[in-house]
Amino acid sequence: MVYITFDRSQCVKCGACVRVCPMGHLAMTDAGPDIGRGGCMGCLQCAAVCPRDAVRADGKRATVPEPFDSLEGLVMSRRSVRSFKPEPPDRKTVQWALDRAGYAPSGKNQRLHRFTVVYGRERVEAVRTMALDYCRQSGYAPELVKMADKGRDPVTCGAPVLVLAWSPRDSVNPGTDSVLAMGTAELLLVSRGLGTCWAGYLRRLADRSAALRETLGIPESCAVDCCLMVGRPAGAPYANIPLRPAAQAVWVD
Ligand SMILES: Cc1cc2nc3c(=O)[nH]c(=O)nc-3n(C[C@H](O)[C@H](O)[C@H](O)COP(=O)(O)O)c2cc1C
Repeated sequence: MVYITFDRSQCVKCGACVRVCPMGHLAMTDAGPDIGRGGCMGCLQCAAVCPRDAVRADGKRATVPEPFDSLEGLVMSRRSVRSFKPEPPDRKTVQWALDRAGYAPSGKNQRLHRFTVVYGRERVEAVRTMALDYCRQSGYAPELVKMADKGRDPVTCGAPVLVLAWSPRDSVNPGTDSVLAMGTAELLLVSRGLGTCWAGYLRRLADRSAALRETLGIPESCAVDCCLMVGRPAGAPYANIPLRPAAQAVWVD
C-alpha cells in the first residue's frame, strides 16, 4: 500500500483529485487536498488525473512519463473510468470487442463462457436498483446501501453499458477463460476511446441475487465470473500514468 501526499507547491487546488477518488476520501481544504483519516486504497487515480503532477506516493513522484504509442502504451495508460456520458457507445463497437475477445487464450478452446450486455442507462439503472434492493433485503454489503443513500454509485458508476461474463460452475478453467476474454475486450474497447471499469460489486451481487440472474439471463448452474462498466468518458483524459511497482516475482532459474 502506498502512502499518498501532495506537493503543495505544485497544487493549484483544481479539485480533480477530489472528484476522481473512488473512495470519496479526499477533501479540498484551504491548504490543498486532504486525505483524511485513512481508507485510501492507493489506486493512484488522483495521480493519474492531477494536471500539475502534484501527487506523491511514499514521498516520491507518483507518475511515470508517457510511453510511446504501442501496446505497452495502451496497457499503461488504461485507467478505471467512473464518469461516463449518458449515451451508450455504438453497439457494433461493443460486439466487435467481444467477438475479438474470442481470440484470447482459453482452456482447451472450449469457450464455455457467455456474455450478457446491459445496454442503455435505463436498463443499467434498473439493474443497479435490483442490486441495491438485494442488499437492503438480505443485509449483504451494507456499505453499498450507505454509499447509495449518499448519492454515490460504486456498483455501476453511471455507466451506460454493463458487460457480464458467466460460465458453468462445473467446467474446467471457466472463470479464467472469462477473465482473459473480458480483459482482452477491455483493452480493445479502450483502444477505441471508450472508458471501462471492472465491476466487482455487481459481480458478487449478480452471483447471489436470483432476481438479478433472471433479468440478466444467467442460469443458476453458471457462476458470474466478471463484469465491466463501459461508456464514453465524461471527463478530460487522464493527465498522467501512475507509477506501479515492479512485479514481485520469484525466479526459479
Ligand atoms: C476485479 C475488479 C473489481 C473491481 N470492482 C470495482 C467496483 O465494483 N467498483 C469500482 O468503482 N471499481 C472497481 N474496480 C476498479 C478498481 O478499484 C481499480 O482498478 C483500481 O482502483 C486501480 O485503478 P486503475 O484501474 O485506474 O489502475 C475493480 C477492479 C477490478 C480489477
